[in-house]
Amino acid sequence: MAEDLQQLVLNSLNDNGTIQDTRTLVLPGSSQPASSADAQITILGALNSLDSREMIKYDTHETLSHVLTREGTQIVLKGSHEARVWAALPVQGAGQPVSPADLKKLVGDETAKVGQGRAFKNGWIAKEGQGLVKVKSSITDVTQNQLLEVDSTGTLTSGDKDLADLRKRKLIIQKTGKWFTVHKGPNFSTSTAKPLTDLTVDMLTSGSWKSSNFKKYNFEAEGIPTNGGALHPLLKVREEMRNIFLEMGFAEMPTSSYVESGFWCFDALFVPQQHPAREVQDTFYLSDPIKSLPPPRDYYERVSKVHEHGGYGSTGYRAPWSDAESYKLLLRTHTTASSAHMLYKLAAVCRGEKPKEGEEYDWGGTSGRVERKEGLEKSDDGFRPAKLFSIDPAHDGSRVSCAGFMRVYFKKMGIENIRFKPAYNPYTEPSLEIFAFHPQLDKWVEVGNSGMFRPEMLAPMGFPPDVHVHGWGISLERPTMIRYGINNIRTLVGHKVPIESVEKAPAVRF
Ligand code: PHE
Repeated sequence: MAEDLQQLVLNSLNDNGTIQDTRTLVLPGSSQPASSADAQITILGALNSLDSREMIKYDTHETLSHVLTREGTQIVLKGSHEARVWAALPVQGAGQPVSPADLKKLVGDETAKVGQGRAFKNGWIAKEGQGLVKVKSSITDVTQNQLLEVDSTGTLTSGDKDLADLRKRKLIIQKTGKWFTVHKGPNFSTSTAKPLTDLTVDMLTSGSWKSSNFKKYNFEAEGIPTNGGALHPLLKVREEMRNIFLEMGFAEMPTSSYVESGFWCFDALFVPQQHPAREVQDTFYLSDPIKSLPPPRDYYERVSKVHEHGGYGSTGYRAPWSDAESYKLLLRTHTTASSAHMLYKLAAVCRGEKPKEGEEYDWGGTSGRVERKEGLEKSDDGFRPAKLFSIDPAHDGSRVSCAGFMRVYFKKMGIENIRFKPAYNPYTEPSLEIFAFHPQLDKWVEVGNSGMFRPEMLAPMGFPPDVHVHGWGISLERPTMIRYGINNIRTLVGHKVPIESVEKAPAVRF
C-alpha cells in the first residue's frame, strides 16, 4: 500500500507536472477522492518518504472541517431525538395519546426529554388531554440531514451558523485537517525503487554505479546508540581520586591480594591477636587452604616478639602469641594489609637488603575492594554493606602535617568541609577519623580514618625511629555519594540498581 501510494503520487506528477490538491487523489483500493483527514495523513506518510529522497517537494495547507461525535453518529443512524419522539406518537385523532411516562418507556429518558421540546418547537407534536400526539403526518429531519452532510463533506453548505448550532449541541466537533500541493523534486523519477546504500565491486566492474540512485549521506543522523561498556560511578570517582594521588606524587601499589593472611592483615599492623575485629563474626576466614605461606622468617620473629614481649620502647601486649592465628587465611578487611606489604618492601633499604629486581618502590597508595562481615548496619544512608572499597595512601610523614596533608587532598576532590575526630587504631598513634559534610543528608559523615603508623608496626619492618609514616583509609562510596548527590548507598550499589543509571551517570571532574 505504501509503495502503491508513492507510485500513484509519482505517476500523477509525471502526468500533470504538479498535484494542486491531494484531496483530489483517488487512493489505491478506493473509488472516492481522498477528502477525509485520515486519507490525507496516509498521503503525508508517502510524501515524507518521497521528500526524504528529494523526489518531490510539497506545501502544506490547513483546513477546518467537522466530524460527528458519538451522539451525532447515533442521530445519523436512528434519526434526531425530536424525530424519534414524533415517530413514536399516534396521529392526532387516530389513536390513544401517549402519556409522557409511556413516551419515556418508548424512546428512552434522554430522547423523550430532549426530543419533546424540539418537536413542540417545530410544531410536530401537540398535547391532547394528558397525552401527546403528532400533528404533522410527515416531517423533514433537518438535524439528521445536516449531520449526514457533515459526515460526508466535513462541512455544511447552509453555512457557519448551522455548524455552530450543531457544535453547541455537541453533535459535531471541529477538526483541523491538512492537504498538500506536490511538485517534482531534484531526484524526481517514476521509480520508487529504494536508493542504494552500498557501492559493490559488481557495480564498479559493470559500470552500473553510474546510473544508480544512491542514498545521500545524512550527516545530521545521530546513529544508533552503541551498547558499549560504562564505568560505574564508583570507578569514575576512583579514577579521579587516582589522578589526584598521582598528581600529589603517589605511586600505585599492587592490590590484587584479596586473600591475605592474619599476619599481613593484622599482626604486621600490631593488631592484637585477641582483637575483636579478628573474630569470625567480623572477618571472613578461608577453610581451604587452611594455612598461608610463611612470611619472611626474621620479620615474623620480630613481629611476634613485639606483640608478646614488646620492644622499640613498647611493652607489647604481653599475651601469648599464636602461630595458627597468624597463618589463618582471610578476605582482607582493609587495604592497609597491602600497605603493610609495601612498607615492608620499602624498608628493604633500611634493612640493608638490595631491593629485588622490579621492586624498587616509592611511597604509594592502594585502592581495592575489602570485605567485612559488618552486614547492613542501620544508618541514614544505608552505609556499611559487607563489601567496601578502600583507598589506602601511605607516605613519608616526617615533614608534613597529616591533617593539613589530608585537607589538601580533600580540597582537590572538591570537599572543603573537613573535620577530624580523635580515634583509635591499634596501628596508628595519633589516629584521626575524617568527616565530610554531606549537603543532601545535611550532616557530617565519616569518609575515612587515618593516623601515624606506630613504631611497633614500622620498627620490626626495619624502619629507623626517625621515619614517620602517615597512613589513611578513605572510602570510595561516601565521596561518590556526596559527589552524585545520592543519600542512600542502595541507589549506588546492589541488585536493585538499574543498569541504565550506571550507563547514564555523568562523568566526574574534581
Ligand atoms: N585501615 C583503616 C580502615 O580501614 C584505615 C587506616 C589506614 C587508618 C591507615 C590509619 C592508617 O578504616
